[in-house]
Amino acid sequence: MSHTIVIFGASGDLTSRKLVPALWSLSRAGVLPAETRIVGFSRTPFSDDAWRAALLESTRAHADGFDAASWPAFAARLHYQPGDIASRDDVARLGERLAALEGSAGAARVYYLATAPQFYEPVVAALGALGMATETAGPRRIVVEKPFGTDLATARQLNARLHAVFSESQVYRIDHYLGKESVQNILALRFANTIFEPVWNRRYIDHVQITVAEEVPVGRRGAYYDSAGVLRDMFQNHLLQLLMITAMEAPARFQATAVRNEKVKVLEAIRPLEPAEVAAAGVRGQYAGYLAEPGVAADSHTATFAALRLEVDNWRWQGVPFYLRSGKCMSCRTTQIVIGFRQPPLELFASSKRRVAREANRLVIQIQPAEGIQLHFHTKVPGAGMQLRLTDLEFSYSREFSGRLPEAYEPLLLDVLTGDASLFARADEVEKSWEIIDPVARAWAGSDQPALARYEPGHWGPQASADWMAAQGRTWFDTCPVLT
Ligand code: BG6
Repeated sequence: MSHTIVIFGASGDLTSRKLVPALWSLSRAGVLPAETRIVGFSRTPFSDDAWRAALLESTRAHADGFDAASWPAFAARLHYQPGDIASRDDVARLGERLAALEGSAGAARVYYLATAPQFYEPVVAALGALGMATETAGPRRIVVEKPFGTDLATARQLNARLHAVFSESQVYRIDHYLGKESVQNILALRFANTIFEPVWNRRYIDHVQITVAEEVPVGRRGAYYDSAGVLRDMFQNHLLQLLMITAMEAPARFQATAVRNEKVKVLEAIRPLEPAEVAAAGVRGQYAGYLAEPGVAADSHTATFAALRLEVDNWRWQGVPFYLRSGKCMSCRTTQIVIGFRQPPLELFASSKRRVAREANRLVIQIQPAEGIQLHFHTKVPGAGMQLRLTDLEFSYSREFSGRLPEAYEPLLLDVLTGDASLFARADEVEKSWEIIDPVARAWAGSDQPALARYEPGHWGPQASADWMAAQGRTWFDTCPVLT
């Protein structure tokens, strides 16, 4: 059976910067099923050829290793249908076009919502009303981009609207972090090896730090960002996904239901923050210059940096804080998970004259930009006495494997085509994520919270973040990519 990927929001940024470059890469690598067509739908009045020409330029700019020779074969897969999402007639015309392209054999269809979020519900309703979600002529799947709601109530409503038309098994809520090789490798690290499992718990781990630092400012996305802020933009989705993968139990099978059940159990174990606890459980900041960004309100209180301490109350993790932090305009771009181990029970090598607080062992999982893992441990410095130094063992993707790492959207798009939802968020998963984030967002919107701390671009957030960590007897692992 052939495949059709229908992109709503076909003239938008996501389509040109991420989706089409990913589909082109899959096509060039020969892994996109041979009979796959891509149909764009949006208001811009492109012809097929005009859309292809526009995508040639954007794919050239955004696809890793673009080669023009492979374009014509890919371009032949692209079709465009102009139309307004808000118009049932236009969506009906899209349906007719799809039927004509697919012919009597039908096709497995993927509807990709790459529009602004306010259009998700109208598109879903139109697909339902026009019978375009029924699976008589082949599977029908729908991919929903983030943001999935702006709080628990809106996420619940969106789930209800989706479920009125699609069954849960047809819905793919995408979080591109789960498509990153180095994130999927955490599953391999934990569940394809035996050596980490015995120490992966409260007995040996003191705390976990999950940092997604970005060097860039909000840029052209000021208007969206100002209404979302870092909590909704990064924590509810990407950071909680990283936490779930780090903290989950081994599923019985590597299969969507089993994997997602284990992830949801982690969210269920996270202790919800009471309003009175929020002030002490985190730090928020805004970079100097944010208020002058286009689209940002002149008196905005939106946080562009946040650090949050969450407790996972289960047998494995009770008492081990998970520190989540993310921000724009930080020192560098790095996404890393640091497993901070406990100190040895006895300090055998301290000199009686000088007791130094030695850094504890840590495992640094670097998700990006250079992917890999470092294990930090103490080694005796050659020479007299027991002088120690922190040294490391390192695994680097680029040293170990030749060739490029696929972009996150590539494996995820293939998974949708094959109907594998393991790396997509389930309805209950997004709702539980909002249950964790909502109390913090609500408290931060109130007036009884510590002031939003300013930070200069090029730092690890505000000084308050380092002070807050120090007050808990810990330090952030503020190292720009440990691997290069
Ligand atoms: C997006 C956020 O989901 O993730 C952006 O909306 C952020 O604000 C981006 O920049 C980060 O993704 P990555 O893959 O570059 O870490």
